[in-house]
Amino acid sequence: MTEKHDKIAQDLQEAILEGYSEKFKKEFLRPENIGKIKDSDSYVSITGVCGDTLDIYLVVREGKISDIRFMTDGCGASITCASYVTRTAKGKSLEEALRIKPEDVNKYFEGLPEDHKHCAKLAVITLAAAIEKYQGKSNNK
Ligand code: FES
Repeated sequence: MTEKHDKIAQDLQEAILEGYSEKFKKEFLRPENIGKIKDSDSYVSITGVCGDTLDIYLVVREGKISDIRFMTDGCGASITCASYVTRTAKGKSLEEALRIKPEDVNKYFEGLPEDHKHCAKLAVITLAAAIEKYQGKSNNK
């Protein structure tokens, strides 16, 4: 890319991220846990009120989330919130991970814009659905 293109890309990024906290920007630029897990213990795909879909894959070992990945066709905030939620859940017991709330995501990012608060909710409800699906399966074994 030329210097002019770099400047345009930087200006665009700044415009998109205007109104978001530094923590949000950092996570947005380096999201974690994007991807699929081929032999996951649980997988769910949830479509939010905005029409965007979030997929979460879980691997559970000894009652703890040993691996977790996500894919989404959603906005930047959905990627950023899913990154935070999945990295927060990783290594936790299922019960601990179920305690993550949309308010925690909002608080961590020092307030999401009103029109993107539902992105945090989508990340949290998808995680909960993946855990509950796993729990349902393991209770039926
Ligand atoms: Fe749909 Fe963010 S998840 S707008």
